[in-house]
Amino acid sequence: MSTTLITNIGELTTNVSSPLGRSGTLTDAAVLIEGERIAWVGPASDVPALPGGYLEVDAEGRAVIPGFVDSHSHIVFGGDRAAEFEARMAGEKYAAGGIRSTVAATRGASDDELRARLRGFLDEMLAQGTTTVEIKSGYGLDVETEARLVRLAAEVTPEVTFLGAHVVPAEYADRGDEYVELVIGDMLDACAPHSKWIDVFCETGAFTVPQSRRVLEAGIARGLKPRVHASQLGPGEGVQLAIELGAASVDHGTYLSDEDVAALAASDTVLTALPGVEFSTRHPFPDARRLIDAGVTVAIACDTNPGSSFTSSMPFCIALAVREMGMTTAEAVWAATAGGAAALQRDDIGVIAPGKRADLVLLDAPTRVHLAYRPGVPLVKKVWKDGVAVR
Ligand code: NIG
Ligand code: FE
Repeated sequence: MSTTLITNIGELTTNVSSPLGRSGTLTDAAVLIEGERIAWVGPASDVPALPGGYLEVDAEGRAVIPGFVDSHSHIVFGGDRAAEFEARMAGEKYAAGGIRSTVAATRGASDDELRARLRGFLDEMLAQGTTTVEIKSGYGLDVETEARLVRLAAEVTPEVTFLGAHVVPAEYADRGDEYVELVIGDMLDACAPHSKWIDVFCETGAFTVPQSRRVLEAGIARGLKPRVHASQLGPGEGVQLAIELGAASVDHGTYLSDEDVAALAASDTVLTALPGVEFSTRHPFPDARRLIDAGVTVAIACDTNPGSSFTSSMPFCIALAVREMGMTTAEAVWAATAGGAAALQRDDIGVIAPGKRADLVLLDAPTRVHLAYRPGVPLVKKVWKDGVAVR
């Protein structure tokens, strides 16, 4: 078993004993990694006596944070939609129907092409400090392609989400209810064995509340856990449905009523904000300050996808959250680490404490504040995943 001591850490974000939205930090700290787990955390002056043969990494006063937990991505797809983005920046509106053009490109791509692309995205995420990623299907929208997508995702993460109900495909135009029958029938049969989560895009232009309920309840009956895309493009009842069905997370939440906020605060459902979407679609950013002050647990994720948010950078999303969503840097870093872990109902990641997975990021900066203070600058110096230095 390998042993690594990271010492001389100027600011260590542990996320331990943190009340909602706050992050525990230690200064002049050290972390001991044994195998794939964290063995000890404390002041650099109190490191326990160690047998020889361990690796010592001198952080030289830099900051260390937990690896980012990106709890929302759509990174198995073919093609891209750069022209759509360009048109949007020139004034076009974002609409859910754009998903269909990626469906055509994805159906036409081979497994090897999709796998190479997926692994490329994972590499770029790792280089930016992401050590856990959730991956959704949703660009196949037929039984065979959706099954391919969840299988490919399951090769690289346990956090696989079946999103057959992403949009109604062109061949089912005006037959949304029939498509839902397919999703909860043959498609669910083919995808459930490779998936942990069931998701639905509950939004005008995608699926109605009754259709979304059918999809989620069918997934739950097959042992999948619910998470929901809701209130991205306008207000709706998706948030209330997600809470009623005990969803781990409701994602987007750009347009929330006071009732939605109160219901979230009274629930165990995390609100996962996706500020890359507002950046890329020119919708208003969600008001995280309002949510946190009401007692809602807020996570941040990238939502990497070719349509609404083609960034894979958690540091960029943290900078947006601080600049545009009213979060402190401490809250944004918590949301991107422990918050993501909560959205995935994981208690082994997102925290730097003995017994947790050794997923850590050494920043090339003295404090985590620099993640928002120096936007766009590559500040990730070193990454450990499961105790292995991967960057
Ligand atoms: O999370 N909201 C639905 N799905 C994606 C967008 C997908 C696309 O435009 O291709 C999202 O934003
Ligand atoms: Fe999404």
